[in-house]
Amino acid sequence: MADQSFDYDVLVIGAGPGGYVAAIRAAQLGLKTACAESRETLGGTCLNVGCIPSKAMLHASEYFDAAKNGSLAKMGIKVTPELDLDAMHGQRRDAVKQLTGGIEFLFKKNKVTWLKGQASFTDSHTVSVGGQSVTAKNIVIATGSSVTPLPGVEVDQKVVVDSTGALELAQVPEHLVVIGGGVIGLELGSVWRRLGSRVTVVEYLDQILPGFDGEVRKEANKIFKKQGMEYRLGTKVTGVTVQGGKASVAVEPAKGGEGETLQADAVLVSIGRRPNTDGLGLDAIGLQVNQRGQIEVDHDFRTSVPGVWAIGDCVPGLMLAHKAEDEGIAVAENIAGQHGIVNHDVIPSVVYTLPEIAGVGLTEEAAKQKGEIKVGKFPMLANSRAKTNHEPDGFVKVIADAKTDRVLGVWAIASVAGTMIAQAAQAMEFGATSEDIAYTCHAHPTHSEAIKEAAMSVRGKAIHV
Ligand code: FAD
Ligand code: NAI
Repeated sequence: MADQSFDYDVLVIGAGPGGYVAAIRAAQLGLKTACAESRETLGGTCLNVGCIPSKAMLHASEYFDAAKNGSLAKMGIKVTPELDLDAMHGQRRDAVKQLTGGIEFLFKKNKVTWLKGQASFTDSHTVSVGGQSVTAKNIVIATGSSVTPLPGVEVDQKVVVDSTGALELAQVPEHLVVIGGGVIGLELGSVWRRLGSRVTVVEYLDQILPGFDGEVRKEANKIFKKQGMEYRLGTKVTGVTVQGGKASVAVEPAKGGEGETLQADAVLVSIGRRPNTDGLGLDAIGLQVNQRGQIEVDHDFRTSVPGVWAIGDCVPGLMLAHKAEDEGIAVAENIAGQHGIVNHDVIPSVVYTLPEIAGVGLTEEAAKQKGEIKVGKFPMLANSRAKTNHEPDGFVKVIADAKTDRVLGVWAIASVAGTMIAQAAQAMEFGATSEDIAYTCHAHPTHSEAIKEAAMSVRGKAIHV
C-alpha cells in the first residue's frame, strides 16, 4: 500500500538487469514503483550494448566461421560463405529492439512507471529526473557501469573503439589490436577474428582471463592460439595515435624493457568497467563511494543512507547481468519486508567464446588456500556427444573438499559450458558433494555427462577415461 506522503514507495534509478528486475519485483509485491532511465530504451548495458548484442554477433560469426573453416564440410556440408556484415548487424539490432521493447511491455504489464531522463538526488527521498522532482520512500541505485578509459588512448568509436564501438564496426578490420585479454577482449576479439581479422590481444598480466581458474586460463589461451588469436602477454599499452584511419599502438613489457609499435586498422579498449555514479548527486545525500568508485552496501543491499539501497555493477562484486538481476529481486523483497538473499559465493561466470568457458565457486588456487582438496577432471574429448559433434576441446573440473566431499568449485571449457554450469551452481546451492553429482542420473548423450564424470573422478571412479 502506497505511503501517501511520497509519490512512490520505490524509485529505481537505472533500468538495466538490476534496476528493471528490482522495479518489476517491487511492483509485483504491491509497491507503487517508478524506474528512471537516461537511455532512450530500457534494459541497460546488458540489452542495449552488452550481453545481447555481443551474443548476436558471437552466434552469427560462429556460423560464418563454421562454414569458412571447414567445420561444416567435416559433417558433409559444403558451402562457400559470403559475409553480409550489414545483415549481420541488422539481426543484432533487431534482437536488441525486440528485447528492450519486451521490458517496456513488462513495465506496462506490472504498472511500473518509466521516468525518462537522468536522475540526480536532491535529498535522500527526492530525485530530479528530466527536470521533474519525484519523491519516494525507498530509492534503489542501479546505475550500472561504463568502460574504464585508458590514459593516453582516446576512443573515437571509429578506429579506436570500446565494446560499444566494437559491436558496430562497419567493416572487418584487417588487423585488430585488443587492449585487455579479459572477457570483452576475448569475446569481441573472437567475433572479428572469425569474420576475417587478424587479432592481437595485448594483456598486461602474464595470462588471459584474470579471476578464472589457472588451468582453465592456460587451456583457453592454448585453444584460442590454435584458432589463430595472437597474444602479447605481460605487455602494456602506453599510447595509441591515429593517422589516416590507421592506429599505431605503443607497447612495452609490463615489467619494463624496450618498447615497440604495433600497426592496426582498429583498436579495442577493453581493460575493465567502472561504476556509474557521476552526476547522481551522491554528495546531496552524504553517500560516499569506496576507492574503486563502488557504493558499499550491507547484506540486504542497504547503503549507509536510510531509505537508499544499491545493487548491480555499481556495488562490489562481479559485474554480471545475472548477479545484478538476483540482487534486483532481493532488494525489492527486502524493501517489502521479506528476506531477499543473494549467495555471492555461487555466481556462475561464462565467457561466450567457442568453446565457452564457465566456472562457479572457488578456483583450484583459491580452494587450496582454504584447505585440503580433491580434484576430478574429465576431458571433453572423452564425452561422446562432444566427440560426435566435432567439439573435442576442453575439460570439466570438479573441486571438492577432501574431508567433507562438498563441492567448492566447478570449471569447464566446452562448446556449451555456459549451459552446463547451471547444474553445478544448483548443486552447490544445495550444498552437494561430488558424490551427489556423480550419482545423479544424467541424460545420454549430453555434454553434461562430462560434469558427472568429472565428479566421479574426484574419487577416482570415472568410467570413460
Ligand atoms: P546497467 O546494465 O549498466 O544499467 C544501468 C542503467 O542505468 C543504464 O541503462 C544507464 O543508462 C542508467 N543510468 C545510469 N545513471 C543514471 C542516472 N543518473 N539516471 C538515470 N539512469 C541512469 N554480463 C553477463 O552476465 N553476461 C554477458 O554475456 C555479458 N556480456 C557483456 C558484454 C559487454 C560488451 C558488456 C559491456 C557487458 C556485458 N555484461 C555481461 C555485463 C552486464 O552488461 C552488466 O553486468 C549488467 O548490465 C549490469 O547491470 P546493472 O543493472 O547493474 O547496470
Ligand atoms: P576484464 O576485467 O574482464 O578484463 C580486463 C583485462 O584488461 C584484464 O585482463 C586486465 O589485466 C587487462 N588490462 C588492464 N589494464 C591494461 C593495460 N593497460 N594494458 C593491457 N591490459 C590491461 O574487463 P573487460 O573485458 O573490459 O570486461 C568488463 C566486465 O564486463 C567484465 O569483468 C565482466 O564483468 C563484464 N562482461 C561480462 C561478460 C560475460 O559475462 N560473458 C562479457 C563481457 C563483459
